[in-house]
Amino acid sequence: MKSHDKNGNPHTTPRQSATFTNDINSDIRRAAATGIYDIRGGGAKRKVPHFDDLLFLGASMSRYPLEGYREKCGTDVTLGTRFAKNPIELETPITIAGMSFGALSGPAKEALGRGASAAGTSTTTGDGGMTPEERGHSDKLVYQYLPSRYGMNPDDLRKADAIEIVVGQGAKPGGGGMLLGQKISDRVAQMRNLPKGIDQRSACRHPDWTGPDDLEIKILELREITNWQVPIYVKVAGARPYYDTTLAVKAGADVVVLDGMQGGTAATQDVFIEHVGQPTLAIVRSAVEALQELGMHRKVQLVLSGGIRSGADVAKAMALGADAVAIGTAALIALGDNDPKWEQEYNDLGSTTGAYDDWHEGQDPAGITTQDPDLMKRFDPVEGGRRLRNYLKVMTLEAQTIARACGKNHLHNLEPEDLVALTVESAAMAGVPLSGTNWIPGQTKY
Ligand SMILES: Cc1cc2nc3c(=O)[nH]c(=O)nc-3n(C[C@H](O)[C@H](O)[C@H](O)COP(=O)(O)O)c2cc1C
Repeated sequence: MKSHDKNGNPHTTPRQSATFTNDINSDIRRAAATGIYDIRGGGAKRKVPHFDDLLFLGASMSRYPLEGYREKCGTDVTLGTRFAKNPIELETPITIAGMSFGALSGPAKEALGRGASAAGTSTTTGDGGMTPEERGHSDKLVYQYLPSRYGMNPDDLRKADAIEIVVGQGAKPGGGGMLLGQKISDRVAQMRNLPKGIDQRSACRHPDWTGPDDLEIKILELREITNWQVPIYVKVAGARPYYDTTLAVKAGADVVVLDGMQGGTAATQDVFIEHVGQPTLAIVRSAVEALQELGMHRKVQLVLSGGIRSGADVAKAMALGADAVAIGTAALIALGDNDPKWEQEYNDLGSTTGAYDDWHEGQDPAGITTQDPDLMKRFDPVEGGRRLRNYLKVMTLEAQTIARACGKNHLHNLEPEDLVALTVESAAMAGVPLSGTNWIPGQTKY
């Protein structure tokens, strides 16, 4: 661009609009060209306050760290201690979140089972039912009971080690999922009792549900079907965590699963993913507060999910009061999703490594979020399972390292007092002091 006009006067520097950014403009052009809204997988991509905004203090004169090679730091957790005869005992508090068969291939489900079992943790089914691949390879399998009832089978309920009633998901509180026709193979159609090749929308609420009282009835029904053997979890989106946690506990839940807005999804409207829900960081403390007020903290376990990526995230979630976490997207990346080795193929699909989120289209070069037999062959479930096991192990070791540095002999002994926040927003949301001060916005005066 010329710096002066034809009269010799300088141009002002061209400025991009902060409101109409290039990204927004491309969304407008896409909408104008197609007339349909954008659907994608993954979680919120916008920047919101997150665990990265918190730091551990570690030990100092007044705190005594533990020695890594000689002093134990426990990582085990038991989920479902309230009513179930057989609670779930896990070696690590990092569980695999519910991801539907249909969104994921059978071999991907198998790999999740292999990896999780080798790491001593559980997997979770999803919309579309229980596959033999997943049941066969998961030592501990949580069976989701979803609004859609796709793939719901009372026999499978009895094969599960726990049941998770899904009320909502962080990526789309108040919305249902989607599975587009491209991914509805004969097998997926048969399991969901729906026609092949036709787009499916999952229900956004349970068909027999008019309010929280119905949850109590539903929990009792499921307990009777499973003879009070297995824990009943209730999964809610991070919309109104204080009230939702209170209502779930009052309805008889053994475990509350709380999913923040960064939480992944297989296919949802982009506008929904980006604009509905609350950040994971912002929901945990009020859920913990609800449990504490009911005298149920640590008695009804809290599992937190939505954007958990590292042992530091795990440790921070636990320090804020969660008993365990669940991971979806990170597990898929560990299996091989968005691997740079497929860059050329991502480019051919109009995407790039790290940004590929068209999971609903069923053309995943990595063979994970697809039902295409040729693409599926690219994915080796044994290798995938090994990678997931390694990743879970590393995250557990990282969390343990941090806990030891804070002088804790179990991950569950981490506490808000171990943390500070880097921003006023994250301090207010997490209920921990702003770094360098003793100020917890909303709680203490500075
Ligand atoms: C591919 C995929 C499929 C999913 N399917 C389901 C599902 O069937 N039921 C459900 O409750 N949540 C589903 N979820 C959401 C996860 O259970 C979980 O809440 C979320 O992935 C956690 O956030 P994270 O992906 O950032 O770890 C899905 C997520 C992904 C990525």
